[in-house]
Formats: sequence, structure tokens, C-alpha cells
Amino acid sequence: MPPRVRIAPSLLAADQARLGEETAAIAAAGADLIHLDIMDGHFVPNLTIGPGVVRALRRHTALPFDVHLMIAPVDPFVAAFIEAGADLVTVHPEAGPHLHRTLALIHGLGRRAGVALNPGTSVSAVEPVLGMVDLVLVMTVNPGFGGQSFLADQLDKVTELRRRIDRSGRRIALEVDGGITPETAPQVIAAGADVLVAGTAAFAGGAAAYAGNLARLRGDD
Ligand code: DX5
Ligand code: ZN
Repeated sequence: MPPRVRIAPSLLAADQARLGEETAAIAAAGADLIHLDIMDGHFVPNLTIGPGVVRALRRHTALPFDVHLMIAPVDPFVAAFIEAGADLVTVHPEAGPHLHRTLALIHGLGRRAGVALNPGTSVSAVEPVLGMVDLVLVMTVNPGFGGQSFLADQLDKVTELRRRIDRSGRRIALEVDGGITPETAPQVIAAGADVLVAGTAAFAGGAAAYAGNLARLRGDD
């Protein structure tokens, strides 16, 4: 039986004035990881939180922090996010300038490293470093905002990566991010994704709805 899919709720869709309570509530509802979207208004057209907020959130849950860095250049901030409590740090190849060096930097600081592929970025961007990544993230929207529509044309990329990961024999998580709902989740799971990021669909309806939201994304409901 394939391992149970893991859900990484994105705090981008949580109540931004109550991030601590929201983190605890989604953890209590059965989240597997907490996904933190870090945007710089330059690599992507939006701004979010910095390491100070990540550090403040650390005491609200013991779940791993899945930190998605949408900032360029990325290297100068890697250590700050790790010190703040990131367990897994994911970067975009375009954020550069040197992807291999960035991944080595993350590993050198004792954390797991991921590579995120934008909708316009090909699988070949991660191929040369597949031997050193712990996670590949397929963006199923263009990064920058929550609540966008799922790009079904990215499913082939998930299928292709599942094949390459299996062939590598390495344990590499295959995560998808953007427009994940109870309707699109079965499609990405069928294509081989094993970690689903969900913002809007995870945080819809307030805390009482969170457990049901996560169960529906897993297909348990
Ligand atoms: C977009 C972010 C996503 C976003 C997903 O740049 O990387 O994590 O929060 O939000 P939804 O699930 O609403 O598409
Ligand atoms: Zn993200």
C-alpha cells in the first residue's frame, strides 16, 4: 500500500492576526507539516513574513516547519530561517545564483532541502541535483498568491517526477502546491504526489471545520 498522503496546510490562508492560534488549531486537526510561504515582493509579486514570525510560531506546534522560500537571492536568508525553526527549506532554482551551493548550505546546517518548480520550469531544472534533494515541490499555480486555480497541465510533471524519484531509489518527497482542493487532490495523488500543500481548502470555515477539511483532502471523507 502506498504511504498515506501528508497534508501541509499553508498559513497564507490562515487568519494573519492570529497565526499562533491558527497553527495550533490546524495541528490539532491533523496536519502533518506546517507550510510557511516566504515572499519578498521581488522574486514573486507579494510580501509575507520573515524569520521573526517563523520563530514566534515555533512554540505553537511541534510539527515540522516546511518553509517555502520565494526570495532572491536566497542564500543570505537560509541560516536565519533555519535558526528560526525551519525543518525543511525549499528553494526555487531561479532564486539562485547557485542551486547546488544553496542545497549544500541547507544540508550543512542540518536541515532537509527541497527544490520548487514553477509552472514554467521544467523537470530538468532539478535533475542534476536529484541525488541531494529531500523533496521536490511542483507548483500547480504561479507562486505569489493563495486562492488561485489549479493548473492541470502540471500533472504530467508530477507523473514524470514520480518516475524519476522511484528510479533514483532515494527517499524524496513529492509535494504539490497551489489550488489543491478535494476535487484536485485525487488527481495529484494519482499522479504520484505524497505531500499536498493546501491553503484555502485547509483553512476554510474556521477552526471547527479544519479536521473535516483535512480529511476531505486526504480522501478519507
Ligand atoms: C503560493 C503558495 C501556496 C499557497 C497555496 O505562492 O506557495 O503555498 O498558499 O494556496 P492555495 O491552497 O489557496 O492555492
Ligand atoms: Zn507554498
